Amino acid sequence: MRLAVFASGSGSNLAALLTACEEGRLPARAVGAVCNNPGAGAISRAERFGLPVFVCDHRAFSSREAHEEAILAWLRPLRPDWIALAGYMRLLTPHFLRAYPGRVVNIHPADTRRHKGGGGYEWALREGLTETCVTVHYVDEGMDTGDIIAQAPVAILPGDTLESLEARGLAVEHELYVRALAGVIGPGAAAGLPGSAGVAT
Ligand code: GRF
Repeated sequence: MRLAVFASGSGSNLAALLTACEEGRLPARAVGAVCNNPGAGAISRAERFGLPVFVCDHRAFSSREAHEEAILAWLRPLRPDWIALAGYMRLLTPHFLRAYPGRVVNIHPADTRRHKGGGGYEWALREGLTETCVTVHYVDEGMDTGDIIAQAPVAILPGDTLESLEARGLAVEHELYVRALAGVIGPGAAAGLPGSAGVAT
C-alpha cells in the first residue's frame, strides 16, 4: 500500500507514521507528503525521511477546489492508495474525497462525538474531564464527522497544563494512529503490534 501524509503543523504524527513505515510496523510505503503551511515543522520532518514534499499554500488559491486540484495533480504520479491527515488544518471537499473514496483518514485529539474542530486538549481541560480520548476516523466532507476507526484514552492528571496534557496525548496519538492505520490498510496487519487488542471504537 502506498501512503501520502498531509500535515500543517509540527508534524509529530507525520513522523510517527513515517517511522512506522520504515520500521515495518505499518505495512505501507510512504510516497509523499503535502503541507499547506510554508512555515510548518512537518516539512523538514518529512524531508528527513527522504520523501518528496509538496508545500502548497492554500492562500495562493482562489477556492478550496483549486487548491485541492493542485494537490491532486501533484499526487497523481505518486499513486497513493491511502491519505493520512496528520494535523492537516484544511477541510477537504467532495472534489478531493471523490479521488480517494473511503481512503482518507484523520487523527483527532478528542472524542469526535463530543468535540469537533480544533483545540481538543483545551476543550478537555475546560470541561474538567479526568480522562479524554483521541480518535482515528475516516474523513468525509464534514468536520470530524466521519466513521470512527479506533479510539484510545488519555488520562488528565491534577495540575495538568495544556502543554503537559498535549505531550501525553500526542504520545497516545502516535501509537494509536499507527495501530489503527495498520488495521485498515490490511486485514491482520496489526497482528504483533503492541497493544493491538486494545483498539476500541
Ligand atoms: C494533533 O493533536 C492531531 O490530533 C491534531 O493536530 C495535532 C497535530 O500535531 N489533528 P502534530 O503536527 O502531528 O504534532
